[in-house]
Amino acid sequence: MKQPVSIKKPEGKLGVLLPGLGAVATTTIAGAMLTRKGKGEPIGSLTQMGSIRLGKRTDGRTPLIKDFLPLASLDQIAFGGWDLFPDTAYESAMHAEVLSKEHLDLVKDELSAIKPMPAVFYPEYVKRLHGPNVKKGADKFEMAQQVEQDIKGFLKTNGCDRGVAVWCGSTEIYQEPTPVQQSLKAFEEGLKKSDPSISNSQIYAYACLRQGVPFANGAPNMTVDFPAMFELSRERNVPIAGKDFKTGQTLMKTILAPGLKARMLGLRGWFSTNILGNRDGEVLDDPENFKTKEVSKLGVLEHILQPTLNQKLYGNIYHKVRIEYYPPRGDQKEGWDNLDIFGWLGYPMQIKVDFLCRDSILAAPIVLDLALLMDLASRANFHGIQEWLSFYFKSPMTAPGLYPEHDLFIQSMKLKNTMRWMMNEELITHLGNEYYD
Ligand SMILES: NC(=O)c1ccc[n+]([C@@H]2O[C@H](COP(=O)([O-])OP(=O)(O)OC[C@H]3O[C@@H](n4cnc5c(N)ncnc54)[C@H](O)[C@@H]3O)[C@@H](O)[C@H]2O)c1
Repeated sequence: MKQPVSIKKPEGKLGVLLPGLGAVATTTIAGAMLTRKGKGEPIGSLTQMGSIRLGKRTDGRTPLIKDFLPLASLDQIAFGGWDLFPDTAYESAMHAEVLSKEHLDLVKDELSAIKPMPAVFYPEYVKRLHGPNVKKGADKFEMAQQVEQDIKGFLKTNGCDRGVAVWCGSTEIYQEPTPVQQSLKAFEEGLKKSDPSISNSQIYAYACLRQGVPFANGAPNMTVDFPAMFELSRERNVPIAGKDFKTGQTLMKTILAPGLKARMLGLRGWFSTNILGNRDGEVLDDPENFKTKEVSKLGVLEHILQPTLNQKLYGNIYHKVRIEYYPPRGDQKEGWDNLDIFGWLGYPMQIKVDFLCRDSILAAPIVLDLALLMDLASRANFHGIQEWLSFYFKSPMTAPGLYPEHDLFIQSMKLKNTMRWMMNEELITHLGNEYYD
């Protein structure tokens, strides 16, 4: 097989721009800084700790992914972002209470130097938040232009050759696409008319893509998953990806459900509830914002279990997801799952999961990996939806007309095979007999 892509070397600095400098963003930034200093391990990050098998099992070639792929190194990254609260990354991280003061103080100066740029913030998309660090502009188009200026200014000031953006802002209210999202022309007219169906996150995404900055969406809101953005990403040759980081409860769901299906065990019901007390939880306490998250979380089982193919096992599932805002827990979410399953001759069984997780600790390595892999994709000249990154998302974006792949193990195979393909290595099929191993 010939080298299908030529990948530009990761020379110079990479600007990692994070709209929303809250718990997830600051945990990511602080973690990358601590890792750079040898004061922490980037656990959970495939790009930093993962390896990849190449060739036959007998070849004994299993390099680290970061040695195999031409990724930007952590030393080459400059972090920045936007937020409606003026707190520096250090202050915001202290407020979020994810990492300890002792940990944060090891990188206090670097974190304190990151001051959020003023946000594009029309409050109707996130009603629970009120902050002073916001842009003023006559219309949404002007706001987008200001974001473009911010990007250019940030890259210049920090000596960056290129940028990449990962949305770490709050979840916006649930929206269905309107005619404004159906073409780039309609979208740009909508921006000039400040059309109410154009949200804050869409304004950032539009500005990033126009500046050639790849954009990954970590929240469940509709941000880059509509025709106008597909058109812009093609026109500017920029990768896009989303949506909603796959972290706590949904991560568990996409680990367990493929196992049940692989063993042909039936499922009657799956009830998931969790409590969390961070700012994300507060925003999700608003029913309109919760609806966005609920839709993202509910899609998972159907696509993994394929009830139309497995009618007797999965044709009648009751699936319910709840999130309760409970301030005492902060970022230390607790997620409970009750699964009613059945086996041989229909005999019922139950599985209970109690996951005492830390939301931002699980999300931070995803943000870092997405930033590095989206930058790689861009240097490899990829554009449009990056389905090979579905591994990282609760609600993976797909090409129009295709169903999303939710099974974590298929996603992982797809991710690694794309890496092999990019680097002109044989794809691994796991056929596993003496001729094809
Ligand atoms: N932590 C996880 O496990 C996880 C998993 C999946 C998705 N997410 C999503 O990631 C996002 C971030 O989560 P978090 O825990 O850091 O939340 P957070 O509330 O701590 O941080 C979000 C930040 O975004 C800011 N913000 C909101 N609107 C903005 C705008 N228009 N421009 C700039 N800043 C804006 C808020 O002021 C806040 O500081 C949320 O949407 C959340 O749903 C998180």
